[in-house]
Parts: sequence; C-alpha cells; structure tokens
Amino acid sequence: MQRRNFFKACAGLSIAAVDITANKAVAKPKSPEKTRPQVGDYLVHDNVDEGIKPILVSELVLGEEQIMAFPQDSNSKVVRNGSRFNKVMVMKLNPKELDEDTLSNSVNGVVAYSAICTHQGCDVNSYLKDSKEFFCFCHLSRFDPHKAGAVTNGPAQRKLAMLPLEQVGDQLIVRKKFTRKPGPK
Ligand code: FES
Repeated sequence: MQRRNFFKACAGLSIAAVDITANKAVAKPKSPEKTRPQVGDYLVHDNVDEGIKPILVSELVLGEEQIMAFPQDSNSKVVRNGSRFNKVMVMKLNPKELDEDTLSNSVNGVVAYSAICTHQGCDVNSYLKDSKEFFCFCHLSRFDPHKAGAVTNGPAQRKLAMLPLEQVGDQLIVRKKFTRKPGPK
C-alpha cells in the first residue's frame, strides 16, 4: 500500500470507530414499562385497566392459588406491564414447607415467581392445589413453588425465576432483581 493510501485507510478506520462508539452512546434505553422489575418496585394486580391496585399481604390466603402481578416503579408510578416477561405470580405458603433458597427470597411465606414458562414461554397461570405445584397447560410442565420453582415434571428443564421480596406495611416490595432470566433460555 502506498504511504498516502495507508494514511487514508487509517483515517477511515478511525471514523468507523467513532461511528460505532457514537451508535453505542445513542442506544435507546428500555422504556420503564418494559424494564425488568427493579429493587424498590411495588407489586400491583395485573389487571391495571381496572385501576392500579397494590397487592396487599393481608389479602393473600395461605395455600390459595397465585395472584398475577406486575411491578410498579415506586417513583414514577409507571406499571411495568409493557413486557409479559415482567408478569409474576404471588402466593402465600407455609414458611415451614419452604426450602432454604425459597425462604431466603420470600417474606413471611409470600413468594413471587416469573409467570413465564421456561420451556417455550407460555403463561404459567394455574396451580394444582392437591400436589401444590404450578402448572403450564401448553405441554404440562410443573414447578414447585416450595423449592425455588424447581421443575417437577418436564418437558421444561429450567426452574422458574424467583423475584425476591420484602414487606413494607401491608405492601410487597421487590428486594432484588429476578434470580435468573425469566422464560426460556
Ligand atoms: S411452554 Fe410450558 S410446558 Fe411448554
């Protein structure tokens, strides 16, 4: 390569590098509605069209099927329902029946799990009271809410993501982000 062409090529590379950096810098952040649950978010009932209602610990009945929820930003009050991957199932269980992992992410027996099946991403919205398992109708996978969402029946291979909670007054607050990526890999 001639000397002049060599310098031209170098200049071209520098411009490309600047472009890439600039593109990175202007990458749009996710909107708050689509952002995964954040520490400090409140949990609210999923049917926000009927008004935003916080999930109250006092309304949860031990062993009753899950209530569907979305996180709500505690500052802006935006409900993060712009992504179905933010939907969670909330229920109250007997703390004595929870394994160590589950206990550490629960509060007073209340647990929250991603509502998206880890097999092919259907909604997990059923609870089998007799066997105490979440159930996915698509291909019949089951998950144990007492054992950090472990698979008890495939074809799903991966446990459900858990959303660690704390309680403030009668309300549920997100204490940590999801324990793993919600939904299929
Ligand atoms: S998507 Fe849930 S079992 Fe297949």
